[in-house]
Amino acid sequence: MTTFIVTGATQGLGLATARALAADSRRRVVLAVRDLDRGRAAAAAIGSNVTALPLDLASLGDIERFIADWQGDLAGLVNNAGVQITDDTRLTCDGYEETCAVNHLGAVALTLGLLPRLVGGRVLFIGSGTHHPGNRMASLFGFRGARLTSVRAAARGDHDDAASIRQRGLDRYATSKFFNMVTAVELARRHPAEVTSFFALDPGLMPGTGLARTAPLAARLAWSSVLRWVAPLLPDTSTPTRSGATAAWIMTADAVEASSGAVFAHDGAHARRVWDRVFDPATGRLVVDESVALVQQRRGAR
Ligand SMILES: NC(=O)c1ccc[n+]([C@@H]2O[C@H](COP(=O)([O-])OP(=O)(O)OC[C@H]3O[C@@H](n4cnc5c(N)ncnc54)[C@H](OP(=O)(O)O)[C@@H]3O)[C@@H](O)[C@H]2O)c1
Repeated sequence: MTTFIVTGATQGLGLATARALAADSRRRVVLAVRDLDRGRAAAAAIGSNVTALPLDLASLGDIERFIADWQGDLAGLVNNAGVQITDDTRLTCDGYEETCAVNHLGAVALTLGLLPRLVGGRVLFIGSGTHHPGNRMASLFGFRGARLTSVRAAARGDHDDAASIRQRGLDRYATSKFFNMVTAVELARRHPAEVTSFFALDPGLMPGTGLARTAPLAARLAWSSVLRWVAPLLPDTSTPTRSGATAAWIMTADAVEASSGAVFAHDGAHARRVWDRVFDPATGRLVVDESVALVQQRRGAR
């Protein structure tokens, strides 16, 4: 039986990805979740080949515990867990801005810690079209693309002083998704594909998930009602079920094997609207080196 971990799989894209992976009963799927009761309920609802384990990606100490406790080899890791905080600036127990910490630093720490278990396996990072400063669809929702290329600055919570709290949150989210995509491409450069392959997925706009939970009430209502009906008429939109099936395909299909470092769109094609900086080797080196240093810095401080 091959084993896959999906982080943040209590709802939305993570849950749909876990369901798609678990459709083949020869696979074991582990939901790595911060709310274990909800994780267990989700696992039970999917099937007997699914279990849940606790993991809070906002805590580098908890990630270390998860890695130390993990037994056995892995066929794949889906770094799905994510937050979009637009009502406040929050710091984690490690002192890092929470969007950067959960969406990016946690994914890096978990991936690098589990790498010895992922020989012959695949790692998927979930990006977003919001990373691209030239994405007109995303700009309709207020996104201005990634604002920083320094992970250190993002982890400190640096922001545009002139921006509203909501805008700062959108900028942080877009920046964290840029880091996710850059990291997938850079790790593919650093590791032979025969050992471990790395991919990114832009799942498209998926209205109705829990992602907009800190948005103003009107925006939340639109996110979970009107936008779901309008979405099929807009470009680059999807649903958790559709993008979850694509994520499971990336993790398992033979056709994907040779393309480590690829960025996929929700329909399984290579993503067309990716900012060229995602593929820039100098940016990749900077992002991954800084991220590793920040993860290690906290380890040293404990
Ligand atoms: N929805 C979209 O339009 C869209 C578009 C592009 C990319 N994405 C990406 O897709 C991924 C999934 O988002 P979604 O839309 O499915 O949102 P969602 O429904 O809010 O799901 C996010 C998941 O992440 C989990 N999570 C949050 N913080 C965590 C932490 N500290 N530790 C562990 N798990 C944590 C949540 O757990 P709880 O249930 O406990 O809160 C939840 O299971 C994210 O990476 C997001 O950036 C989404």
